[in-house]
Amino acid sequence: MFSEITNLAKEAALKAGSILSKGFGSSFEINNKIGKNNLVTEFDYLAEKAIIDLIKSKFPSHQFLAEESGDTGISSDYLWVIDPLDGTVNFAHSVPIFSVSIACLFKGELISGVVYQPMQNELFIAEKDKGAYLNNKRIYVSITDDFLSSYLVTGFPYNINENPDNCLKHFVDIIQNGIPVRRLGSAALDLAYVAAGRFDAFWEIALNPWDVAAGMLLVKEAGGLITQYDKSIYSIWDKSLIASNGIIHNEISDILTNKKSL
Ligand code: IPD
Ligand code: CA
Ligand code: CA
Repeated sequence: MFSEITNLAKEAALKAGSILSKGFGSSFEINNKIGKNNLVTEFDYLAEKAIIDLIKSKFPSHQFLAEESGDTGISSDYLWVIDPLDGTVNFAHSVPIFSVSIACLFKGELISGVVYQPMQNELFIAEKDKGAYLNNKRIYVSITDDFLSSYLVTGFPYNINENPDNCLKHFVDIIQNGIPVRRLGSAALDLAYVAAGRFDAFWEIALNPWDVAAGMLLVKEAGGLITQYDKSIYSIWDKSLIASNGIIHNEISDILTNKKSL
């Protein structure tokens, strides 16, 4: 049912997921990237290598953008955008909330996106114009229309001490009204959960293309809406992101652009 590209993304995600689940809870090397809590483990590298080796074995002429190895491969119409372990801080502390995120773009357009949560064995797959699926079952965004009854998720950048774009103020604005807001620690999963209707919306400032590419296609194919904070068109190269069921989108955008406090 899916294209060769989507099936390959799925195979690579399962392979990386099995590496991560074997490593989970074991003793492994943890290093800091820039900043104090921006961690990387040896499993980030192992999972990324497994993904890229597999894809390269089938498509040696494709291009890659992966979190740990950066831009590699030959300039091509096909670009694979990979986060081998989204939720490294959780993984490093033996908290079983993390995912593998793999997307493929053709001439700049997202065509396949896979997010895999190995500890729950949940496989989210989206293909352009073919819908979004969780373990082979079609998924859709929620139908919640009352913002004050919504269930939200967000994340914070590693430089949160600089409070980029007032992200702490916005968080307080929303949470102090009693709206349940979660912080799972994996943006790819946050997006997959919006696609599955578990959360009504997700927002975050300063994400990278590998955090969002696969999840973005999931949300779109599940009927949701993704924009920048000011509702302008979002691409994976942009920094501010709101992903929602579409119905409560304006309310979140108004708060994040300081047009309204609740
Ligand atoms: C991080 C996670 C987290 C988000 C951070 C990301 P990493 O990715 O997605 O939820 O809040 O902004 O950098 O470092 O675990 O791959
Ligand atoms: Ca990430
Ligand atoms: Ca990562």
